[in-house]
Amino acid sequence: MMNPTPEDIVTKIHGSAKYRTVWPSLIRRIAEQELAKQGNMKSTVKAVKKTLHQVAGAFFERKMSFGRWAEELQQCEGLVALKAHCKILMQRHASTRERMGCFQEMYREIFTHTGPVTSILDLGCGLNPLSLLWMPVEKDIRYEAFDIYIDQIDFLNSFFQIAGCDGEAYLCDISDKLPQVEADVGLILKVLPLLDHLPDCDALYVLQQLRVRWLVVSYPVASLGGHKKGMTSNYAARFEDMVQHESWSLHQIIYPSELVYIIDKR
Ligand SMILES: C[S@@+](CC[C@H](N)C(=O)[O-])C[C@H]1O[C@@H](n2cnc3c(N)ncnc32)[C@H](O)[C@@H]1O
Repeated sequence: MMNPTPEDIVTKIHGSAKYRTVWPSLIRRIAEQELAKQGNMKSTVKAVKKTLHQVAGAFFERKMSFGRWAEELQQCEGLVALKAHCKILMQRHASTRERMGCFQEMYREIFTHTGPVTSILDLGCGLNPLSLLWMPVEKDIRYEAFDIYIDQIDFLNSFFQIAGCDGEAYLCDISDKLPQVEADVGLILKVLPLLDHLPDCDALYVLQQLRVRWLVVSYPVASLGGHKKGMTSNYAARFEDMVQHESWSLHQIIYPSELVYIIDKR
């Protein structure tokens, strides 16, 4: 039998309901690496699915009904109803759910530290762009969000339109090509540890290359199962070691959901 190609792996992975809408470009890159290691179809598919689970699938507990969620937002009358429904949807992704108890305070402190800003990039955004409705920023702020699920990106674009925000969501594999647009702030929330699972990705390079004045980098303080295992101090040591040769100023804040660094690159 002929060896499978990366394209065969993409087709096979897209046959699984959980990964049907993952951007093929990311699957192909992981498949290329795994094919070199595994060789055959069965073990390569298994390895690619494992990576996709680690970097993305693990954070959604239930089926993601992005089309229906967009219709639900469309039916909300007024900002109060829209915000109430966004809070419900933010519970559907582990990362936003974990910070529900502190996200308003977190964004207040972030933007007090940065001062007024006019543009934000949100890399590996999940459902965090919905938090924009609570961020203490000007109504006309430019918000650009990046992630790897096709239907999630469509949903976020519907959200921006319904909420009347100057926002846009894009498919992007940040381990491959970074957005080239300049912005005041780059949010990289709970994303850096995932990049270790992806081929040829260097977290420091990502931080260096982003064309932003402020980076807001966060790490989880507990595993998805709720175990703490010294994660805060381990991630803090790892992050500070990684950026030790950069002339950036760091401001650390620890919330119940995450360890946050606000970094001034200037
Ligand atoms: C731990 S979640 C964090 C979500 C969001 N930043 C937050 O804190 O609410 C990681 C997110 O990164 C996305 N992701 C994983 N690999 C990615 C990649 N290579 N490029 C862009 N996004 C990626 C996942 O789909 C997921 O939404």
